[in-house]
Amino acid sequence: MKNFIKLISTFLVLLSVFSCQEKDQLIYKNQELSIEERVDDLMSRMTLEEKIGQMNQYNGFWNVTGPSPIQGDAAKKYKDLRKGYVGSMLNVRGVEEVKAVQKIAVEETRLGIPLIIGFDVIHGYETLSPIPLAEAASWDLEAIQKSAEMAALEASAVGINWTFAPMVDVSRDARWGRVMEGAGEDTYLGSKIAYARVKGFQGDDLSKENTIVACAKHFAGYGFAESGRDYNTVDVGTSTLYNIIFPPFQASIEAGVKTFMNSFNELNGVPATGNKFLQRDVLKRDWNFDGFVVSDWGSIAEMIAHGHAKDLSHATEIAIKAGSDMDMESYAYVDELAKLVKSGKIQETLIDDAAKRILKVKFQLGLFDDPYKYCNKEREEKTLGSKEIMDASLDIAKKSIVLLKNDDNILPLKKEGQNIAVIGALASDKTSPLGSWRIAAKDSTAVSVLEGLSVYKGNKITYAKGTELVLGTPDFTTEVKINTTDKSGFAEAKSIAKNADVVIMVLGEHGFQSGEGRSRTELDLPGLQQELLEEVYKVNTNIVLVLNNGRPLTLGWADAHIPSILECWQLGTQSGNAIAQVLYGDYNPSGKLPMSFPRSVGQLPLYYNYKNTGRPTLPGKDIVFWSHYQDEKNSALYPFGHGLSYTEFAYENLKVKQEGKNFVVKIDVKNTGKVTGKEVVQMYIQDVFASVTRPVKELKGFKMVSLLPNEEKTIKFTLSDKELGFYNNQGNFVVEPGKFKVFIGGSSQTVIETSFEIYE
Ligand code: BGC
Repeated sequence: MKNFIKLISTFLVLLSVFSCQEKDQLIYKNQELSIEERVDDLMSRMTLEEKIGQMNQYNGFWNVTGPSPIQGDAAKKYKDLRKGYVGSMLNVRGVEEVKAVQKIAVEETRLGIPLIIGFDVIHGYETLSPIPLAEAASWDLEAIQKSAEMAALEASAVGINWTFAPMVDVSRDARWGRVMEGAGEDTYLGSKIAYARVKGFQGDDLSKENTIVACAKHFAGYGFAESGRDYNTVDVGTSTLYNIIFPPFQASIEAGVKTFMNSFNELNGVPATGNKFLQRDVLKRDWNFDGFVVSDWGSIAEMIAHGHAKDLSHATEIAIKAGSDMDMESYAYVDELAKLVKSGKIQETLIDDAAKRILKVKFQLGLFDDPYKYCNKEREEKTLGSKEIMDASLDIAKKSIVLLKNDDNILPLKKEGQNIAVIGALASDKTSPLGSWRIAAKDSTAVSVLEGLSVYKGNKITYAKGTELVLGTPDFTTEVKINTTDKSGFAEAKSIAKNADVVIMVLGEHGFQSGEGRSRTELDLPGLQQELLEEVYKVNTNIVLVLNNGRPLTLGWADAHIPSILECWQLGTQSGNAIAQVLYGDYNPSGKLPMSFPRSVGQLPLYYNYKNTGRPTLPGKDIVFWSHYQDEKNSALYPFGHGLSYTEFAYENLKVKQEGKNFVVKIDVKNTGKVTGKEVVQMYIQDVFASVTRPVKELKGFKMVSLLPNEEKTIKFTLSDKELGFYNNQGNFVVEPGKFKVFIGGSSQTVIETSFEIYE
């Protein structure tokens, strides 16, 4: 008997060795072979349902970033996971959580295909950098790329290998809460930033353990939601689509982005998720995109509410035909797609194409060679909040601050002997500066303004809240309730302000007042903050207004009365340190607005690159028939590209010279002030007349220059066809002869200009 047992166990060992060897010899497991060969081999072994499984993405069981149709249906998710019917999960995070689901996919399913793990790493994971709109204000592509690199480093250490970023939606409407998540109103700046962010996340080698897959979103038009109301209808023509909305997506592809996310909105009557023109014709055919497209959260099912699909099966059919490869949380592909193939409504080749695209990215990540490569507990502990990540976060935070106004050089603050009153609930807030999209960051982990200021010991600081900004503890999914009644703190604020040398008022929006689903119709300082500002001003006019906000605000009163205004957005974990260093002049502000600040909400959408119209100017005294408002100027209060420094810059000698087909533009920039400073030199052009009218100005180049006092440098730009041409209404890129103007300066409105001609 003993011998028999021994024999059996030897047989079992041999069998397992043999089957292991056989498994190792599977072509798709062979690292020596090309990814194409490995994908083809794997595909040949997969059933229809397993292929569809790759196209199914489930939310994890811990965080929800959208309305889940089957909230908490963990049993179904686990069951599908075990069958190999899940290709990706989102919002699963932390080495232990990720390992647990990955283990099921790899060790319990028939083919052991690893999951790709997605997460909204929008401006960092646990250590947060400034909100993306703030980072865009740095105009510093190197720092922006570094910030994405650090986000990838931290996220990859906790099991994540795919971020749903960058959001590259151009938006001209500050009412839309998601402007905080993008790069602002300009397509050229947005394209450069999209490129930098994709490079930062993905690096040059995706198979490294510290790089993650990026996702250009939301394709397309989401930033043009009517009236700035989130998820609202989008109706734009070819010119806007091709010249304004598309370029940052194209730049993402140039940077090698592996995934796209489609969008909640309809575009000209067809929901983006079911839009064949966008996904198959433009993205996959014209632009040759070979990665995959994930739907937005539940956006396949939402085509029913849009009035485009009659039921879930119909929505599924539309989505797959239109080129949506992966279904995020609609339960559409996993439950409907196989039936559609079997009934002959959908050709299996569409499934093959989608599944292949997804598998390819998993191979590129190296997941088949080591599915647990992002699941190293030691690395997780070492990386989260590391010094390298914190330092980069502080660096970009300083660079993101924009000095809007600085009359009488109130700033920088004197370092000694001052009595400084700090006022405002946001001054002591350690959560709000984290901004929106901060799922993994813990509350109260930002450095507050008060904490940042306390590093400087030479002045006396007193603090009063003045008024609470919000009621309760807002979170990611619920409405933020603003305090509009309790003024009990006003008296204390006024009393500390009265005897102060300088008053620093930290006002603005709560961190959750912008972001998804957070549109506003008023853009003033929320709640009682405006009243508080005016009350304090009555007792002391020497005020520095420090703004924390996720979007442009209307600041007419403040601009007319407050001598110094510093736009500090929501700067992330290192917020207070960055603000204090700028207030004290240890960092000379260099940021420039990536979005126009309106005078009034009624001006929106507002943008610097508008069209002239046939009636751009006042035709005569008091004549009404021109393009204007009766009650407000047309211009922005603070225009795109605006931002001051503690020094000043002079621009002269603007020259244009033709060199071959290109035009070389040169300008001398001099630091005329007393301290070293950095300036973003901006070049705009205007194609004065064209077959399709062109904007009055378009950014076509910018360079950051650092100058010592009295130092002067010549800055050179080149204008080639790429900058001089545009897409006509047939979607063709053309360069048309005629007159062009060139403008150079330190903002879109403070420029000097010259012109040149392109001859036929
Ligand atoms: C957002 C996406 C996000 C997704 C997953 C959606 O609500 O629109 O941008 O990536 O949720 O969290």
